[in-house]
Amino acid sequence: MPQLCENSPFESAFVTLKLTSADFTGSENITRYSYRELVRATSNFDHKIGEGGYGPVYKGALKDGTAIAVKVLSLHSRQGAKEFLNELLAISDVAHENLVKLYGCCVEGNHRILVYNYLENNSLAHTLLGSGHSNIQFNWRTRVNICIGVAQGLAFLHDSVRPHIVHRDIKASNILLDKDLTPKISDFGLAKLLPSDVSHVSTRVAGTLGYLAPEYAIRGQVTRKADVYSYGVLLIEIVSGRCNTDTKLPYDDQILLEKTWRYYDQGNLEEIIDSSLGEDLDIDEACRFLKVGLLCTQDVTKRRPGMSAVVAMLRGEADVGTEIISKPDVIRDFRDLKVRSRATSSTLLTSIMARSSLLSSEETTRTSITFTAISERD
Ligand SMILES: Nc1ncnc2c1ncn2[C@@H]1O[C@H](COP(=O)(O)OP(=O)(O)OP(=O)(O)O)[C@@H](O)[C@H]1O
Ligand SMILES: [Mg+2]
Repeated sequence: MPQLCENSPFESAFVTLKLTSADFTGSENITRYSYRELVRATSNFDHKIGEGGYGPVYKGALKDGTAIAVKVLSLHSRQGAKEFLNELLAISDVAHENLVKLYGCCVEGNHRILVYNYLENNSLAHTLLGSGHSNIQFNWRTRVNICIGVAQGLAFLHDSVRPHIVHRDIKASNILLDKDLTPKISDFGLAKLLPSDVSHVSTRVAGTLGYLAPEYAIRGQVTRKADVYSYGVLLIEIVSGRCNTDTKLPYDDQILLEKTWRYYDQGNLEEIIDSSLGEDLDIDEACRFLKVGLLCTQDVTKRRPGMSAVVAMLRGEADVGTEIISKPDVIRDFRDLKVRSRATSSTLLTSIMARSSLLSSEETTRTSITFTAISERD
């Protein structure tokens, strides 16, 4: 019988869910922490390390000294404890060198909290693509390891986990680095924890438009190939050392993917490679990686390789079929998305609600987008 609320100081403050052992059938593998335990582990949620679309993340330590990252899900329309645990169960056993380890959760009263392994070197968004506060030297070999590691983690989710998991939110802030700079994909499976919560979906999607496969953004189609698209964008970011979208640049240079295609088309792809890379740069290898990125971001989903094929191409174990690379499709901004969504048929799965009528790329993080339906078609 699960002992959920045994230590909760909040039993009187919240309507404690009446949970029976039947509610948790099959979820024995998830370590469940009491809220009081996590208050203690985080010194009363004292050290906030960041905040994403799901809520704030705090650093803490378990009794044995293990460092943890505690993600407090801010749920406006909550899933019941049973559904929440069932979804969590689906990801609790998923373990791989390139995935962040989920230690457990706290489901107590209204609290929905996830406890992860703490990773020392933050995310690629903060370090490689951040505004210059990182001391990490991302030389070419390090970048190769990161690109291949992320591809391996994603290939594992797509091809080894049954049923397969589509991440839906591959981007630089979801690639965390451990003390040895081994990349770990975070937040896999989370999309399913909050299926009906518009505000969380909106914040996350709006902040990461540049990574979204057009068929996902426009028609809400979630397949493994949508992750492949996002991975392709990330791969090109890592090789070039810049974010996919940079609205401070001249218009033609703002979208890295468009610029990469242009250079590829003109036969001088090496121009895209990060100029700060030093002696260990292997230009041929870097160009191969960029071509794989272009393969992954092609408009026609069938033309995008699967992630296991991507791993083989990055490792040089399979050819990069340059003859079939076609121009990437890019959703530039919310105006573009809106126009294209309108142009689709009445079976449109995506509806868009712009809170602001004056949309610019900088404002997209405040823009709301609602997926009225999500289809798994892979
Ligand atoms: N396991 C972890 N170890 C160390 N830092 C973490 C861990 N998980 C998250 N963080 C940090 O916490 C911050 C917020 O992460 P979070 O995943 O909530 O937001 P995000 O990735 O920016 O956006 P999204 O909600 O779309 O995933 C990030 O800066 C991330 O680096
Ligand atoms: Mg994240």
